[in-house]
Amino acid sequence: MLRRLHPDQPESFAFTPANQAWAEAEMTKYPEGRQASAVIALLWRAQEQEGWLTRPAIEHIADMLDMAYIRVLEVATFYFMFQLQPVGSVAHIQVCGTTSCMICGAEDLVAVCKDKIAKRPHMLSNDGRFSWEEVECLGACANAPMAQIGKDYYEDLTAERLAQIIDDLAAGKVPAPGPQNGRFASEPKDNLTSLTEFTGEAQNASVALAAAQQDTIKRIDGTELELVTPWQDKPAGKREPARKVKPKPGLASVIDETGSTKDEAPAKPAAKPEATAKAAPEGRKPEMLTEAKGAADDLQKIGGVGPVLEQKLNAMGVFHYWQIAAWTEEEITWVDDQLNFKGRIARDDWIGQAKTLAEAD
Ligand code: FES
Repeated sequence: MLRRLHPDQPESFAFTPANQAWAEAEMTKYPEGRQASAVIALLWRAQEQEGWLTRPAIEHIADMLDMAYIRVLEVATFYFMFQLQPVGSVAHIQVCGTTSCMICGAEDLVAVCKDKIAKRPHMLSNDGRFSWEEVECLGACANAPMAQIGKDYYEDLTAERLAQIIDDLAAGKVPAPGPQNGRFASEPKDNLTSLTEFTGEAQNASVALAAAQQDTIKRIDGTELELVTPWQDKPAGKREPARKVKPKPGLASVIDETGSTKDEAPAKPAAKPEATAKAAPEGRKPEMLTEAKGAADDLQKIGGVGPVLEQKLNAMGVFHYWQIAAWTEEEITWVDDQLNFKGRIARDDWIGQAKTLAEAD
């Protein structure tokens, strides 16, 4: 499968302060000069923060680790766990389509995804809240067919059960992961001859932990524990940056050499110190509030708005659907510029979604 960067890329990427401290602490796990070993951990953190891996994120991490952009791009495009295009704001569903799952009904699960989410894999649903893809064996063959949703496995699925799980997720619930047919783990469904003492338990340890942590589809939002680095004399968040960022030519020039067209991966100017300064915002600033009028609306109900974007919007003075629903083209341009993600508001139709949500209130 050809894995390329998405043609619609944000202008820039930055870790949140908490994630920056986490990333710098992670880099100290390796000897001086071997910080590149942290590349997968940092890419994963960036994906957890944004939902998917953007080109600015790849370049930013390459700069942090003093690696060539192409080396980090190689890692990001090699591992399928890295999403190179936007994924659903609520959940990205990975249906296993390998042998065991395929002969046990994976095609029916894919049909559910096509019907309820989008016709093709890696497409966002109309509301931007879901996406799906077919993946290779996820190592739960004894519980086929199965799918990974967020951080957890949903096993022993049927088409009806997967459809119900998607409906539950859409309604804000998180169904218990693990076997969905009453099995405790991967034991025979009936006529147990051994380990019979566990059959009375409602959930196995993995499912119980997932349920207790309520972490299945939660993304990094700043509430995570700080990475513990007892070999350092200061807490991770109080240290000087571990590595100085050295700007290099943009990744776009490397991509062009390896075959991507400009349409597929529009060139981004080489990172220059002066280019990193934020230009004056275009468009017109919408009227903002200093605080919510009554209870703030749940902006994450708008497809494409996750915890990070909601925080940014609140910090700007946006708390209600009716505020977003009233934005003009000029105001959308201004907000896009503030969010460093040009075109996102139009692409995900925030205005239409906000109008629907405001009317439903
Ligand atoms: S074949 Fe689906 S988990 Fe192994």
